[in-house]
Amino acid sequence: MDIKLEQLKVLFSEDEIKMQVKNLALKLNDFYKGEDVVAICVLKGAVIFATDLVRELEMPIQMEFIRLSSYGSDIHTSGKVNAVDIKLPDLNDKNVLIIEDIVDTGLTAKFLIDFINMNFHVKSFKFCSLLDKKITRRVDIEPDYYCFEVDDKFVVGYGLDYDGYYRNLKYIGYKDV
Ligand code: IMP
Repeated sequence: MDIKLEQLKVLFSEDEIKMQVKNLALKLNDFYKGEDVVAICVLKGAVIFATDLVRELEMPIQMEFIRLSSYGSDIHTSGKVNAVDIKLPDLNDKNVLIIEDIVDTGLTAKFLIDFINMNFHVKSFKFCSLLDKKITRRVDIEPDYYCFEVDDKFVVGYGLDYDGYYRNLKYIGYKDV
């Protein structure tokens, strides 16, 4: 598949995204009640969402970045999660918040959850995702929080890419065929 900018239709506008990110931040501020949190941004897709979200959070935040990949240059997941960089500080007894762009098959989320459980005894663990593509799930995993549900469309923008492009779009779009 090829995606051209002029073929993109807006699925979620900049304003809708801003509103949902603020709503999610309200829930997280309420849940953590001022306690320290380690927010782990899953690169590259969650970078825009994570940087917007953490600026709405009111508790002390330690930001960490890890890089996982499961997509090639196409629109289909490889089905294998590649831990490109998963160096993390000691998370024992910490409140851990994972920030992901989209939960699709759920394989990346499962990999991360297993990795944290195997290596640390955390104080609390929450998984938030900008998007939830429930319909394509292959493992039994649900994000604790998500901003929007999407159906089986390949979406780009606001951090999500096609072949490395379109992460900088302010909206989330899809190819209208
Ligand atoms: P999962 O492991 O199948 O849940 O997919 C996780 C990763 O696939 C996400 O973090 C994204 O980087 C990528 N991905 C899944 N669906 C899409 C999409 O519609 N657009 C762009 N990237 C996607």
